[in-house]
Amino acid sequence: MGSNKIYFYPIWLRIWHGFNAIGIIVLIITGISMQASIESSLIAFNTAVNLHNVAGIIVSLSYLVFFFGNLFTKNGRYYLIKISGFLKRPVKQAYYYAWGMFHGMSAPYPLSEKRKFNPLQKYFYVIVMYMAVPLVIVSGIALFFPELIIEKVFAFSGISITAVVHSAMGFFISIFLVIHLYVASIGKSPAENFKSIISGWHHV
Ligand code: HEM
Repeated sequence: MGSNKIYFYPIWLRIWHGFNAIGIIVLIITGISMQASIESSLIAFNTAVNLHNVAGIIVSLSYLVFFFGNLFTKNGRYYLIKISGFLKRPVKQAYYYAWGMFHGMSAPYPLSEKRKFNPLQKYFYVIVMYMAVPLVIVSGIALFFPELIIEKVFAFSGISITAVVHSAMGFFISIFLVIHLYVASIGKSPAENFKSIISGWHHV
């Protein structure tokens, strides 16, 4: 195997990832702060709202870089899910993470020029980037311009439904981030992958 290096992360992807990571961390901290009662909140309510709006705009704009980057470059192909082994492949990877990895098993889906993500990682990236983040952006824009929101959906207030979707997706993305950071630390050394997403080069 040796220590081959592959250029996995083109510059536009690293720029998106950097803005997105910082933006989402600010969104999580200010989002949690806004849920606390005014007296006990971490950050003054108005400051939290303003920071949350600015970070939301940054994440939304940088999402366009991600979306069109994947649409128009070959990076998008890493996000395509194969029908064959739809369940078997991620389950095999989960087994490796939960058991095999600690018992000397070698990775079932080693990374290469053709495979940047293992099957489980790919599913998580697709769910987060093509469902959770778009939903949090759309519901966030709606809450920013509440006059856009349908007033009543059956007996429920449209604003409440939008707010629940927004918080639930925010919560999901927060959990994703914790898992993402843990999984990114698995490698040759814990810092290895973090260096890759900054330099673009990945060790295989
Ligand atoms: C401090 C925050 C973050 C750090 C340190 C971090 C770290 C990393 C690392 C090391 C990689 C490359 C290895 C890999 O593919 O797993 C990566 C890729 C990726 N990260 Fe993050 N991440 C952070 C935040 C986020 C957030 C908030 C999201 C999405 C909501 C995200 C989504 C992604 C995606 C989709 C990729 C794959 C990009 C591609 O190669 O096409 N990351 N991240």
